[in-house]
Amino acid sequence: MATVTFDKATRIYPGSDKPAVDALDIEIADGEFLVLVGPSGCGKSTSLRMLAGLEDVNSGAIRIGDRDVTHLPPKDRDIAMVFQNYALYPHMTVADNMGFALKIAGVPKAEIRKKVEEAAKILDLTPYLDRKPKALSGGQRQRVAMGRAIVREPQVFLMDEPLSNLDAKLRVSTRTQIASLQRRLGITTVYVTHDQVEAMTMGDRVAVLKDGVLQQVDTPRNMYDKPANLFVAGFIGSPAMNLVEVPITDGGVKFGNSVVPVNRDALKAAVDRGDKTVTVGVRPEHFDVVELNGSAATLTKDAEDAPAGLPVSVNVVEELGADGYVYGTAEVGGEPKDLVVRVPGRQVPEKGAKLHVVPRAGETHVFSTSTGERLSD
Ligand SMILES: Nc1ncnc2c1ncn2[C@@H]1O[C@H](COP(=O)(O)OP(=O)(O)O)[C@@H](O)[C@H]1O
Ligand SMILES: [Mg+2]
Repeated sequence: MATVTFDKATRIYPGSDKPAVDALDIEIADGEFLVLVGPSGCGKSTSLRMLAGLEDVNSGAIRIGDRDVTHLPPKDRDIAMVFQNYALYPHMTVADNMGFALKIAGVPKAEIRKKVEEAAKILDLTPYLDRKPKALSGGQRQRVAMGRAIVREPQVFLMDEPLSNLDAKLRVSTRTQIASLQRRLGITTVYVTHDQVEAMTMGDRVAVLKDGVLQQVDTPRNMYDKPANLFVAGFIGSPAMNLVEVPITDGGVKFGNSVVPVNRDALKAAVDRGDKTVTVGVRPEHFDVVELNGSAATLTKDAEDAPAGLPVSVNVVEELGADGYVYGTAEVGGEPKDLVVRVPGRQVPEKGAKLHVVPRAGETHVFSTSTGERLSD
């Protein structure tokens, strides 16, 4: 087992003047499950391939434990990688696929067999050891690819979108299996995905990348509760956080008819910079519905004293059973603005209805409109 350190690791592809990964700085703890997430092209695979030794590092360093591996060939790094296309050998049995790396390394046959059988047991693959990959389901192939990594007992697992070839249902069950397997084996793991739900459900910590630049590394909880900037705020969470540019007024920000109190220091920081507005973020579950079609809503207990709030006309309602999501339009600063509001599943409004919503105190996020950075604490 080992720690993994990206120390300002940078990759500039030949012919490009912009780094694909720009001074990536992350320290991954021994046994940690770290997920690298971000939109397509943000540099996730490049980061992983630098760690694997499949891509040159142009500046900075990469360490596994105390070893500087920056210029070591892949075979000397003691890592095992699981790719998106499992790259199984079609003419070999499952057992031979799983043991292949050990065979190349000259491990005795009996020992290979023992390790393969152990891994097969962990992965529920014992009945399939003599089959060829084409006689397996997608989920089973994925497990063979995992098995091939496990038998090597590496210091670090690297996984690049290993679930993207599975259908949606299998993806959900397999992500739980991988996460629990990783915890059981305790092997430091760097896992790449573009899917923020996968990242949030699997990672001990999540690192968000955008355009090759690390935006935030944090636990899923902190990432959700305190996104460091507008990009992370919009990327993490589904449906996404509502982000509304609003004028700064005394003591708060004006949100429709109500002034939402927000952290004074945050507003001062924006004003000092010369900004006239801030961007306020409210998650769909952090709106209180204070009025529905002109009558006080039964949805909140203090509806009588509640401010009128921001009128939202309902365009679409998504009913999910326990909850509903209202997709509506509000007028903010004279411009129509789409908002998503979560409501209790048994109290969903009709399409065309008008809701009045107020962001719940203490649940608003404030960002600088000009730089995108988080201003509230
Ligand atoms: N071999 C390569 N040569 C040149 N540019 C590349 C190469 N591989 C990736 N890139 C570029 O580097 C950036 C990051 O790519 P990549 O790491 O594959 O992103 P991700 O895995 O997040 O989708 C992209 O702009 C991509 O086009
Ligand atoms: Mg990729």
